[in-house]
Amino acid sequence: MTRILGISGGLRRDSHNTSLLRAAAEAGASDVELELYDRLKEVPPYDEDDDVHPRPVSVARLNAAIANADAVLFATPEYNASIPGHLKNAIDWISRPVATNVLRNKPVAVVGASTGAFGAAWAQAELRKVLAALGARVLDVELPVPHAHTRFEDGGLIDDKIRASLADALEALAEEVRRREGVKAVA
Ligand SMILES: Cc1cc2nc3c(=O)[nH]c(=O)nc-3n(C[C@H](O)[C@H](O)[C@H](O)COP(=O)(O)O)c2cc1C
Repeated sequence: MTRILGISGGLRRDSHNTSLLRAAAEAGASDVELELYDRLKEVPPYDEDDDVHPRPVSVARLNAAIANADAVLFATPEYNASIPGHLKNAIDWISRPVATNVLRNKPVAVVGASTGAFGAAWAQAELRKVLAALGARVLDVELPVPHAHTRFEDGGLIDDKIRASLADALEALAEEVRRREGVKAVA
């Protein structure tokens, strides 16, 4: 069983990005389990003075959730052509210390939904850049979901093409996890 953590950058109750991850959880193969992280809002603004042992509980919880997952699927909205501040802030916490951060070598993929015409493509590109800088194994996956308000009904995805792309993204993550486990077993 491949355990994937889903992190949505949309905090609001009816977030399209959270809906996208819920749809992904249903679209994956039977040997892939996607669990949604729903406590991102609790992470405080990064302050190096607070980055001491023990770390804030909300940060330690997020860190442990990522550490315990085989892979992470991010769904990001786009705010002013970039990553929403709270999502970038959470990643800043996770990034320390850089050499041993829990995203290092972790297979990750990024998808995103926005109500605009480009489906959070810039935010996805920036998030991939940030994750790569931390040493995450960023998969070459892009899934822009434009006009997001037209893709869901009562929170459920109504676009089969997007559903298929979500399944592909999960399979790519699972494949990378299997590949890495194979390499470890041989070494
Ligand atoms: C502060 C703010 C800035 C935004 N900037 C962009 C933007 O640059 N590009 C875009 O496509 N949508 C932008 N939007 C619209 C969001 O894509 C839309 O609100 C989206 O549904 C948010 O994601 P969520 O549904 O997961 O909460 C912005 C929304 C907010 C609140």
